Parts: sequence; C-alpha cells; structure tokens
Amino acid sequence: METLQQSYDRITKLSLREFRKLVFQRDPSLKNKPNYSFLPTMVSKERQLKWTGCEGPTLVKNTYDFVSLMFLHAYRHGLPNNRDIKILDYGCGWGRMLRLMPYFTNIDNIYGVDPTVKSVDLCQDYNVPAHTKVIDEKPDRIPFDVKFDLIYAYSVFTHMRDHIAKNALDLFKDALSPNGMVCVTVRPRAYWLGRPSGGNISQDQRKKVLEQHDSTGYGFISYHDNKHGGPTEWGDTTFTLDYMRKHWTGWDIVGMDVTDTVSMQRLIFLKPS
Ligand SMILES: C[S@@+](CC[C@H](N)C(=O)[O-])C[C@H]1O[C@@H](n2cnc3c(N)ncnc32)[C@H](O)[C@@H]1O
Repeated sequence: METLQQSYDRITKLSLREFRKLVFQRDPSLKNKPNYSFLPTMVSKERQLKWTGCEGPTLVKNTYDFVSLMFLHAYRHGLPNNRDIKILDYGCGWGRMLRLMPYFTNIDNIYGVDPTVKSVDLCQDYNVPAHTKVIDEKPDRIPFDVKFDLIYAYSVFTHMRDHIAKNALDLFKDALSPNGMVCVTVRPRAYWLGRPSGGNISQDQRKKVLEQHDSTGYGFISYHDNKHGGPTEWGDTTFTLDYMRKHWTGWDIVGMDVTDTVSMQRLIFLKPS
C-alpha cells in the first residue's frame, strides 16, 4: 500500500500552480477522485472567513502568493532546495499554508502550532500533513525537539501585543537551524486609516493609535476594547521598520516584500545577527 509520502510524491512533480489546484480543490462533497483522497478536505466557507478574512478563489490566490514569495526570498537567502528542510508554521490556523508545504519538503518535516485548540483540531481532523500542537499564547518553548530551517507566521504578528511578539521571536532563535530564517508579516501605519479587522474604531481610538504608532513605532488596539470583548493580548497591530530594528534585538532584517494581493501584510525576513 502507498504511504502518504508516496501519494504526495505523485503530485509534487507538477507545477506549484497545479499542485495548489489539487490541494485546494478538496471539498467534502468531492467523492469522485479516489486517487486524491489522501489530500486534506477543505474547511467550510465560514471557517475560511473566520480565520483569514477571505475564502474560495481569493483565499487560494492569497495563500499561493504568500508561499511562493516567501520561498523566493528563502532560497535567495540560502534555504537548501531539498526535501529534508524543516518548516514551522507559527499560528497555523486550520492549515491553509501548511497544505502547500509538501511541495517544498517531505511531510514528516512539516510542523504547525497554534494556541487555539480548534485550529489544531481542524488541521488534524481535515488531514493536513503536518505535526501540529496547541501552544500557550506566550509559550516558553516551541514544543518540538527539532531545528527548523524556515519558521513563518502569516497574519499573526499583525495581531500580537509587543511582548508576545518579542517572546515568539526569542523562541524562534532557539528553534532555528544554523542557517535558518524567519518570515513574519506585519502591518504598516496605513492600516489604521482603513477599517481594522477588529471592527470599526472611533475617531478618538484612531487618533490615539496613530499617535502611539508615530511616537513609538508600534500601534495596538486590543480586540477586548474593540471587537466582541475578545482576549486582551490579541487585537490589531502595526510595527514600523525602525521599531523592529530597535526592539527585535538579535535579529537582522534581511529582506522585505509585499504580495500584489494583500497590501496590508508586509513580509519581513529575519535572520539571527
Ligand atoms: C488571522 S489567523 C491566521 C491563521 C494562519 N496563519 C493563516 O494565515 O491562515 C491568526 C492565527 O493566530 C493564532 N494565534 C492567536 N494568538 C496567538 C499567539 N499568541 N501565538 C501564535 N498564534 C496565535 C490564532 O489562533 C489564529 O489561528
């Protein structure tokens, strides 16, 4: 009988675009393609929207754009192009990015963590090919005895309070392989001029957060003060480059980019200094 890795090997020789098409076409109602039954099933439209703010073809395009741009930079900065590289998705949600990772490495090398139990349940119940675990919001270690070549966090640092983000970066440093790199996304100042994902903010909140961003390089509004009284440590966040250079000590910013599709998620590439 074919192993899961052998099943993936059948499709990793396709172009990334074709691979993406197969991986994201899995719908619970699609029972007519037994050859591909090893692939993860897609989560409902409501869950796509809840975790990522988009769904369907838009979600697939955004995911593909981020992943392909991230690997372009990672290879450019020395990520080995082989199937042994170890990858960690920090704040993996229901695993939309993880689903594309078998294109870049063997499935045993793919890991994901998230503090929301439902996220990890959705990865495991929907067959996402990764080792996934629940972590604390501010954990004291990455719960795998593995050195990672690439750690990424998409749409995660965009919601973190400063000390939670710094703690995650400190843990990344311990968990990276000698030439490993990190990619996180952050939001720019312009984010506050639109409509934050936490819901409408008052003129007074907008003024205050812009002042905070402009004077400290970091702006934050907790969902607790904004959207449905959520957790105090999670909300909408902006960071300037100067802030990152000053406060994310021990890291060099080795690259930056932005996809055509999601302008408010700026990719920041980091290596230990
Ligand atoms: C906007 S979703 C993005 C999910 C996934 N990265 C994606 O792009 O599909 C943010 C994710 O971060 C997780 N999260 C919340 N607090 C976190 C924390 N302190 N550390 C890491 N992840 C966190 C949430 O549970 C959620 O799955």
